[in-house]
Order: sequence, then structure tokens, then C-alpha cells
Amino acid sequence: MKKFYHIITYGCQMNVHESEKIAGILSEMGYESCSSPEEADIVVFNTCCIRENAENHAFGNIGMLKKLKQRRRDMIVAVGGCLPQQMNKAENIHEKFPYVDIIFGTHNLHDLKSLILKKLASKEPVISIPEDDGSICEEDVPLRTSYPNAWVNITYGCNNFCSYCIVPYVRGRERSRSSERIIAEVRSLVAEGYKEITLLGQNVNSYRGELTFPQLLETIANIEGKFRIRFMTSHPKDFSDELIEVMAKYPKICHCLHLPVQSGSDSILAAMNRRYTSGQYLEKVVKLKARIPDCAITTDLIVGFPGETDEDFEATLDLVKKVNFASAFTFVYSKRQGTKAAEMPDQVPEEVSKARIMRLVELVNSQTRSLSETYLGKTIEILCEDYDDKRGMYMGRDEYGRMGYFISSQNMIGKFVKIQIKQVNGISLTGSAVV
Ligand code: 5AD
Ligand code: SF4
Repeated sequence: MKKFYHIITYGCQMNVHESEKIAGILSEMGYESCSSPEEADIVVFNTCCIRENAENHAFGNIGMLKKLKQRRRDMIVAVGGCLPQQMNKAENIHEKFPYVDIIFGTHNLHDLKSLILKKLASKEPVISIPEDDGSICEEDVPLRTSYPNAWVNITYGCNNFCSYCIVPYVRGRERSRSSERIIAEVRSLVAEGYKEITLLGQNVNSYRGELTFPQLLETIANIEGKFRIRFMTSHPKDFSDELIEVMAKYPKICHCLHLPVQSGSDSILAAMNRRYTSGQYLEKVVKLKARIPDCAITTDLIVGFPGETDEDFEATLDLVKKVNFASAFTFVYSKRQGTKAAEMPDQVPEEVSKARIMRLVELVNSQTRSLSETYLGKTIEILCEDYDDKRGMYMGRDEYGRMGYFISSQNMIGKFVKIQIKQVNGISLTGSAVV
């Protein structure tokens, strides 16, 4: 009898990649992937808690499984990742959703097999949320689902304690994987035919294995073959001249940098514990653009941090205008229990934050749209990633991260394709393949 699994993932790339590791464990246990919880023998929620809405979203979907679970008592429901790793949250989940069979955290994903076996042998729910012990598990073999792109972890955890952020509490202290292992992993991915390698860490710039981050990047860029290299996320305080030099030197490294600024106001940046000023951020941007003029810079921005005044918010708009980001993720500040900012006075009223984010989104979108206009008539090289059923077109990205669509009668996934842009619609570009 075949057994099936279904994984539901919330949150960042780190989680997307961890779901690939969960899939690896489940397939090694004999489960096969299926496309809906209805067909599954085990459903795994890989959760996120970075903002309240991520949490509510997961809670809502776990709640929706209640009926299915009543009909299919043998189905296993597991909830893991960042959400249950928060203080007292596992108990909370257990009380709210007593039908959840397994609750695990961020530090024991590799124990999932034994947790499942334990559950199969007992009627009781299995709850296991170990604390960070500083170790890294190298045993998991991910079942990769995003060919031609492959994610490679270089660090886990975070030591920065930005005052709004829950990540250091749920992911533990920063640990770097050995450079040798990372390089070996990338080599074998390239040999298997992966065309885009994204190095992942909460703050890749503070990577410290046998090599520094720029040295690691340089070594990877020297691996033979046609493939692209991306990395995320970079903390501006650790973004160095040496890294700019490596990015400039190797064509394999995409001219694309995600550099979250969060705010343009120095007093807010200080309260956020970001450890740079807007001036220092701009200096790094100027240096980067001087050395790599075509570099696309993307960012994350938070509005409504406690104490943010109209002037602070105007400073954020100013900075966005100065940098001219290729794109930006914009967030309304969300209070996270246990963080420093949750205790700060002057929490900003929701209506104020909403009005601010609307203005910010409008500005960011207008910058992204103007950038799109510059693409009209140009020929760009994209790495074809997927087929979009709705549009009936293949889709890929250029090195700057911009999505482009085109029609082809052959399967182009995993190929580098040159397309000439014929149509620009907001952020989406459509072109025709050039032979
Ligand atoms: N509220 C809103 N946004 C947040 N981020 C992190 N924590 C919070 C929070 N409490 C955003 C930051 C970070 C991105 C991954 O999520 O902008 O860079
Ligand atoms: Fe959170 Fe700051 Fe660490 Fe990023 S660097 S994960 S925002 S604490």
C-alpha cells in the first residue's frame, strides 16, 4: 500500500528549503508526495512566526484539518518549525488543536522520523521542542523541489537581536556550516545540473567557517560550469568592500543584492538595534553602485515601529527615493512576544501604520514600474524555472531577479534563454525567445 505526504510551508526560503529536508525524510520512510491533505497519510505544517499574520494563517489552516482528521483518524498531523518553537506555543497548539499528533521545533527537524515512529506506536500526541544546543545536523538529504534552483544553507540562527525580531529566539545562535561541506554540496549540485545556487543564512556576511563569506563565494564562483550564484540575506552592518570586489570580479555571481534597510530614520534604526545609520547604509549603496553600476538592490522595510513619527516615516520615503530599489518587501510592524520592541512605549496605531504602508507601497511600486519600462525592447538572458499554466508561458528570471515570460513549444525548464522584451506590465515582462 502506498503512503502519501503533504507538506504546507509558510515563510522564508529557509523554510522552503527545510520543507525539502522534511520531504527527504518522509520519502526515505516510504511516503510519496501528494497534492492535497485529503489524499495524505501525513500532513506536515512547516510554520513561520515572523509576523502575527503568518501565525494566524497557519493556525487557520491547522484548524481547517479538524473535520478531515475526524473522518480519517489514522492520518498524522504534524506541526513544526518556528511557530511551536516560541515560548509556550507548543502547549498552546496542543490545547487549541488536540488532534495534532506531532509538534516539533526548529532544532529537531532531523528527528522527524523517530517522532513519527513514536506516534505510530502510541495514542498520545508527541511533543518535542528541544532548545538550541549549538549543533548542526548534516545528515538530512533534501528532496529538492525547485529545479533548476537549489538552496544551500551556510549559516543557521542569528545573533543580531534586532529589537522587533523573533528569529534569534526561535532559531538560536548563529552557527556556520563548514566551508568544505558547503563547497562539496555546491559542486555536486552543479554536477547534477542545477543552474542557480542560492546560499542561505539569516546574515550571510557574518559567515565564519574555514573561510570568510567573500572567500567562500569566490571559491564557489571558481567551480566550472554555467550556473548562477545568489545569496541572502546580507546585513548592511557586515556588508564589506571585499564582498563588493568578489561580486564585481565573477560573472557567475548575480548583480543583485538583498540588503534590508528596515527604516530611513536614524533614531528608529537605533531603537531597532540595527547598528548602522541611514548615512552609513547609503555610503555602502554608493560604493556598490560605483563598482557595479548595474547591480539591482532590493530591501525590506518596516513601518509603524514603536515611536515612529511622521518625520521618521518621511526619512524612510527619502531613503527609498535616494536608493531607487529594484524592488522591496514592505511590512507593517508586528509585535512579537518576548522581543525588546514588544515592551517599548508608543506603539503606533494601526490606522497610522496602514496609511504609511500605502504610501510606501505606492512609492516602491512606482520605482519598480519605471525600472520595468527600461526593459522594453531589450534582450535579456533568463534562467527558465517553470511553466505558468494560466498564461500558457514559460517563466524565468534574469540575473537581477526580474521575471520574464515567453512562449515555447519545447520544455525550456533549466535552460538559459535570451528573450527580447515586447511587453511590460507592472513588474511582469513578456518577450519572445531569440535564437
Ligand atoms: N514586524 C514586521 N516585520 C518584521 N520583520 C521581521 N520581524 C518583523 C516584525 N516583528 C521583517 C524584516 C525582515 C523580514 C524578513 O521580515 O523586514 O527583514
Ligand atoms: Fe531578525 Fe535582525 Fe537576525 Fe534578520 S538580522 S533574522 S531581522 S534579528
